[in-house]
Amino acid sequence: MDETLTILADRIRAARRLTILTGAGISAASGVPTFRGQDGLWRQYRPEDLAIPEAFERNPRLVWEWYDWRRGKIAGCRPNAGHQVIAAWSETRPECSVVTQNVDDLHVRAGTRNLTRLHGSIWELTCWDRCAKGAAAWRDERVPLGELPARCPQCGGLARPAVVWFGEALRGDDLRAALESTACDVFLTVGTSAIVYPAAGLVHDARRQGAFTAEINLEETPASGAVDVAIHGGAEVILPRLDELL
Ligand code: OAD
Repeated sequence: MDETLTILADRIRAARRLTILTGAGISAASGVPTFRGQDGLWRQYRPEDLAIPEAFERNPRLVWEWYDWRRGKIAGCRPNAGHQVIAAWSETRPECSVVTQNVDDLHVRAGTRNLTRLHGSIWELTCWDRCAKGAAAWRDERVPLGELPARCPQCGGLARPAVVWFGEALRGDDLRAALESTACDVFLTVGTSAIVYPAAGLVHDARRQGAFTAEINLEETPASGAVDVAIHGGAEVILPRLDELL
């Protein structure tokens, strides 16, 4: 592993443009549950009950109770060494892009710059009916949120978490930023099971455009065989080691 870490560190040092894609694994050491890892949320809950628009339509209160519970869990979590290394790189390297699938905002709290939150934020709400006044998302960090389901302060209708659910399109600006970030010298994918598209396709796009690609994950993923180096270990351990080598 030391050899692969050195190879990756050399590539990062020489890179002009560095892109990092993160998934739930980066926040695991902070105490945020993953979806498909050990004790992952999708091992206990069914996405079709909680993370599709039809589920919200059927039972907004149930969906909100689940999100309120997750917000409570995340509120007690702090960015870990992995988030901090990424934040430092985003600050010191002129062309570093960070794309996350996480809605926990731990990258934001670590001070990460040039960040695209591909799946939104669990701390933001938006009007379910997309009423004219409540079109934009608003931030609400109360834990617990108060009366559920939450309401749009503009029209009094239902509010929803401003996250992307299965079957929904990503926001155009976010997708564009993520796709643009694949034109890079090094593309590093960290703590994602690499199965949810379009995020999972980014590393392949980067590779096709000539980027050196690397993965950091506790386990093998569908991306492991496609990247130039796959490093197995916790992001909170590997990223600080990598940083020391730079
Ligand atoms: P997953 O839960 O699918 O995958 C988490 C990955 O992190 C797994 O491959 C684990 O092996 C790895 N992992 C766990 N702990 C780690 C650690 N300490 N260091 C490094 N890796 C670790 O999460 P995502 O890939 O982010 O989407 O899931 C993608 C999307 O599916 C999520 O954004 C969410 C989910 O359903 C929506 O809700 C739309």
